[in-house]
Amino acid sequence: MTDTAAGETARAERGEGYAVNAPYYDLIIPRDHWNAVAAALADVLHEARTVAEIGAGTGFFTLAMLDALGPGTEIFAIEPARIMRTGLVARLSALGPDDASRVTVLPEDALAADPGTPLDAVVLLNCVMHFAPDERERLWRRWAERLRPGGLLVVEAQYPQRAEDVPASVVPGASLGRYRYETHSRAEAVGDGVVRWINTYRTLAGDGLVREETAEFDCHVISDETLYAELAAAGLEPAPTAPTGLHVWRR
Ligand SMILES: C[S@@+](CC[C@H](N)C(=O)[O-])C[C@H]1O[C@@H](n2cnc3c(N)ncnc32)[C@H](O)[C@@H]1O
Repeated sequence: MTDTAAGETARAERGEGYAVNAPYYDLIIPRDHWNAVAAALADVLHEARTVAEIGAGTGFFTLAMLDALGPGTEIFAIEPARIMRTGLVARLSALGPDDASRVTVLPEDALAADPGTPLDAVVLLNCVMHFAPDERERLWRRWAERLRPGGLLVVEAQYPQRAEDVPASVVPGASLGRYRYETHSRAEAVGDGVVRWINTYRTLAGDGLVREETAEFDCHVISDETLYAELAAAGLEPAPTAPTGLHVWRR
């Protein structure tokens, strides 16, 4: 298992982590919750013209932001894991020419990627747990520097807030053809501010199990207090209003 941010990309290349998760990704997301996050994001970003999205995954929020931000705006979608980027590019390649001209996919790691233009917002969703404390220090500074004065950094509140075991739960997913998909998920505290998420992706036909595969992810626990201290140290300040569940900071 790994404790470096670039490590998840390397693990995926070896067939671990996101390599196991990717074929299920769009089928197992908690869609109602994510639609609510996308709506909140649209509100937060209503004045943004140029946005970087770190760890874009297969592009659920990339597409939602493209729709919400509209003509004349631009998104840089950063996704270093080849298998997740495949999903991202497949999703974006279905866009018409006007929308397609507004999104650029950067395959570098977030500690190396550079859109090369000042940004109105930097968005990290379901991604920051992959960065160790020393990496987060570099991450926040790198991206705070690339924000225009007044630009926003958006990251969701993390769960769990402490390094503790998380009991097993089942997250229902979508159906496709004769199969439906669900995730059995739990986490174990493995020390040093890290929890190991153990996710089993099940494919079912009716009540019968067709297949199951498990992916493990070692994730850094980042409490709201820690996040607050780190973002303040990077020279950002909290935006006066933020929707529930999202941290919104301003340069
Ligand atoms: C759980 S997925 C979230 C994807 C997307 N943001 C979403 O909410 O659907 C986390 C993503 O972060 C990416 N990631 C991991 N380490 C990264 C890094 N160092 N820089 C940029 N992205 C990274 C992974 O490849 C993966 O696609």
